[in-house]
Amino acid sequence: MTGGEKIATCLRFSLFGRGDAAPGGSSRNMFNILVVEDQKNMRESLVIAFKRAGYHVESVESGEMAVKLQKTHAFDLVIVDLKMEAMDGLEVLSHIKRDNPSTEIIVMTAFGTIDSAIMAMRKGAYDYVTKPFQLPDILSVIERALEKKRLSDKASDLQKECKEKYKFEGVVGNSPVMMRVLNILMELTNSESTVLVTGESGTGKELVARAIHSNSRRSDKPFVVVNCGALPESLQESELFGHVMGSFTGAVKDKKGIFLEAQGGTLFLDEIGEVSLSSQVKLLRFLQNGEIRRVGDNKPINLDVRVIVATNKDLDVATKNGSFRKDLFYRLNVIRIHLPPLRERKEDIPVLTNYFVNVYSNKLGKKPPEISGEAISLIQNYPWPGNVRELENVIERSVTLVRGDKITVADLALQSPLSTDDMDIMSETGGIRAALALQERKTIIESLRRCAGNRKQAASNLGISTTTLWRKMKEYQIIPKTSYNTENT
Ligand SMILES: Nc1ncnc2c1ncn2[C@@H]1O[C@H](COP(=O)(O)OP(=O)(O)OP(=O)(O)O)[C@@H](O)[C@H]1O
Ligand SMILES: [Mg+2]
Repeated sequence: MTGGEKIATCLRFSLFGRGDAAPGGSSRNMFNILVVEDQKNMRESLVIAFKRAGYHVESVESGEMAVKLQKTHAFDLVIVDLKMEAMDGLEVLSHIKRDNPSTEIIVMTAFGTIDSAIMAMRKGAYDYVTKPFQLPDILSVIERALEKKRLSDKASDLQKECKEKYKFEGVVGNSPVMMRVLNILMELTNSESTVLVTGESGTGKELVARAIHSNSRRSDKPFVVVNCGALPESLQESELFGHVMGSFTGAVKDKKGIFLEAQGGTLFLDEIGEVSLSSQVKLLRFLQNGEIRRVGDNKPINLDVRVIVATNKDLDVATKNGSFRKDLFYRLNVIRIHLPPLRERKEDIPVLTNYFVNVYSNKLGKKPPEISGEAISLIQNYPWPGNVRELENVIERSVTLVRGDKITVADLALQSPLSTDDMDIMSETGGIRAALALQERKTIIESLRRCAGNRKQAASNLGISTTTLWRKMKEYQIIPKTSYNTENT
């Protein structure tokens, strides 16, 4: 074989002659190379040559040693001989690609064993060189492999950065307003402040409260959720703060109370606007001095509980009409996180859609389906009255039921817009709102009836939270009971 032939078989990309200045020359010392070669002479001369070229180099004489070393030490590049005793180069390659997928690998193969070199490329090697080769040629392959690695590392750093930017503890969003929310959440790390979260149903109030809890020193302590509105007014104080035996008729034994259950952790008081005035006084006292008093007990109890509250009501209005104490409102309103409805932050819809497609595909062990152009445009333009919860439910259902690998408009099964005829009829009989409310009331009663009054189950079937169900039952005066009948409820 002539010298020219040697070079030609040595390099797959003969276009890149040895005279081409390879990129990244000045930063070679940032890269670690591992040489795996069982022939001593060859191994030593490669090490010397690579060191001279400015790389950090280590070498081992067997496949087993290479596999062991790369488990504790990630190399940028491994150059490995294909034919070695015991463990051969292909096996080494498989191990490295599994343990350190971003490590680039170049295999050395003897003339006449090109098949195994091609096999190595299929298994993820960057390139191969055929022995014997000229030094400048192998250096040039190395330069290119490392440049590729540098670029793909940079891309994956960027991707990671993007992911982190648009997501915090499961809270996803990239609209300007959600980016501000994510920033506040990050700033709140390790804080102890009381936080007020506001927003319509399904905008993520509880999710945000959980994110704050998970990012605090309390993360391994309880996160207790209470829907204040669902506590009957007469029992509210004793449910929240506990009572001692005999303090009122029915207090047959001591009761711990929800505050005490949250000791050390975070208490999420949902629907805070529904708390009775007497409980408001107790809550204010707790926020001021960290003490609670059980009903019928004079002794104060010191508690370490962080309080986060939420409401979808306008508390400013409630303070004006006297149903909510002003001093408590000011105390709660120190850090306020407002989550606007999804229709006012449409920029979040694509990232949320993507996020839910991935979450539910992973759950089902499916490859994430694509979404057709029309379906994307429908998702983007739909008003999402149930906010993120509704979007999440629609995506979950579509991912579960889709046949094939693309979600279409039909798979989304969104409520079709009302026809103009429907609207005419409704506006004649009390307006569209009344008609929709009537329909909503019927649907809720129907669902409760099907679940024999089990509110958790009914809410889940309706795709709303139990809080929302409770709110709607109150609004439509649906009285809780175990058997529901559309006529007489
Ligand atoms: N920004 C978001 N990123 C990811 N998931 C979200 C986001 N916002 C809401 N969700 C999801 O939507 C669903 C509803 O959120 P959540 O229960 O926190 O809403 P809510 O405001 O408390 O609603 P409600 O007032 O009805 O109780 C949850 O499954 C939640 O994980
Ligand atoms: Mg909620």
